Amino acid sequence: MTSSPTLLPASEVELLRLENYNATVIGIRRCHDELMVLRVRPDRGLPYIVAGQYTVLGLGYWEDRVPGAQEEGDISRVVRKVVKRAYSISCPILDEGGRLVSVNDLDYMEFYVVLVRRSDERPPALTPRLFRLTVGDRLFCGPHVYGNYTLARVPLDANVVFFATGTGEAPHNAMIAQLLKTGQRGRIVHVTSVRWKKDLGYLAVHRELERRFANYRYQVLTTREPENLDPSHPNYSGKMHIQDYVASGRFENDMNLALDPDTTHVFLCGNPAMIGAPVRTQAAQRRYAVSGGMVELLEKRGFQIDQPHESGNIHFESYW
Ligand SMILES: Cc1cc2nc3c(=O)[nH]c(=O)nc-3n(C[C@H](O)[C@H](O)[C@H](O)COP(=O)(O)OP(=O)(O)OC[C@H]3O[C@@H](n4cnc5c(N)ncnc54)[C@H](O)[C@@H]3O)c2cc1C
Ligand SMILES: NC(=O)c1ccc[n+]([C@@H]2O[C@H](COP(=O)([O-])OP(=O)(O)OC[C@H]3O[C@@H](n4cnc5c(N)ncnc54)[C@H](OP(=O)(O)O)[C@@H]3O)[C@@H](O)[C@H]2O)c1
Repeated sequence: MTSSPTLLPASEVELLRLENYNATVIGIRRCHDELMVLRVRPDRGLPYIVAGQYTVLGLGYWEDRVPGAQEEGDISRVVRKVVKRAYSISCPILDEGGRLVSVNDLDYMEFYVVLVRRSDERPPALTPRLFRLTVGDRLFCGPHVYGNYTLARVPLDANVVFFATGTGEAPHNAMIAQLLKTGQRGRIVHVTSVRWKKDLGYLAVHRELERRFANYRYQVLTTREPENLDPSHPNYSGKMHIQDYVASGRFENDMNLALDPDTTHVFLCGNPAMIGAPVRTQAAQRRYAVSGGMVELLEKRGFQIDQPHESGNIHFESYW
């Protein structure tokens, strides 16, 4: 990887990398210019991971960014610091020999990352740097894993439904590998909403799982293909976000699965507007970050948010 020659001398950059980085990129699969599957091997080995958890990746502000990313302005005050962000631990689910693998069978961590070129809040700092990485490059990988977005409270007979936007699929891949390995007896239904078909980085493996496991279904919703937007397209189907797909009854109809709180756990990951988490939690004054999100929809149907002190069947992880 190169660093910006105008920022710091090469000798200092070498030193900063030695001091701050503790992991190596061992594989990169580019789905397209703005989406990748990244494999990272920490020097000290892997911690025990519960499927669905996340860790932290980081690169120095001194590293170069991809061309075309929003300008950062003057970074001289932070140029010797490492920018860190949270990333869910994904899973290839099948190894090269086609065998089921879960996150703890691997000697690396897999991540599913989209490039954010610009943002309304602040210029994106990490992904424009992550997308300069090549195999053999060094980076920071947090020593711990975190999070309660896991299968800990899901019984063996439950139906498990996953809804993701974009790279929100990452923790679901880890959990699905786990469920299939432990012989989940209920249905496993996995819905992902992406802009374009090219944004489906794990499509082939999910289609293979559907062939092998009668209780597994992978359902894709695209939102920006010509058939979503152009009414004159011969296969015009319109555009639906996940919450509209569920509210309209289409999900239950297409999957032939009732969203029944007595038998089903639902996992929601990615865009906070799809999730629509409550901002006021007292029953009388319950308010949501956005109205009509998945949490509101599911609560109206008798589902309950899973919380540390009170187990429930709605689990969610917001990416921003
Ligand atoms: C627990 C957790 C797990 C996460 N796991 C992943 C993951 O597996 N893969 C991943 O790509 N990102 C993941 N993220 C988001 C990640 O931490 C970064 O925010 C993201 O990679 C952008 O980093 P940045 O520094 O370039 O921009 P930031 O300044 O961090 O983000 C800028 C803006 O980009 C948008 N954005 C951020 N992440 C995404 C995303 N994934 N998809 C669409 N828009 C986004 C938001 O509008 C955000 O305000 C996760 C976040 C959390 C909190
Ligand atoms: N995907 C790409 O190829 C691509 C290309 C260039 C840049 N990027 C950048 O990458 C970042 C993430 O892109 P992404 O496509 O992975 O993630 P994303 O923008 O979160 O989109 C993923 C899916 O979520 C849907 N969505 C958007 N708003 C929603 C809402 N309120 N409720 C429910 N669903 C909603 C999107 O539909 P909509 O179509 O309605 O948004 C899309 O189907 C962005 O910063 C983007 O600029 C991505």
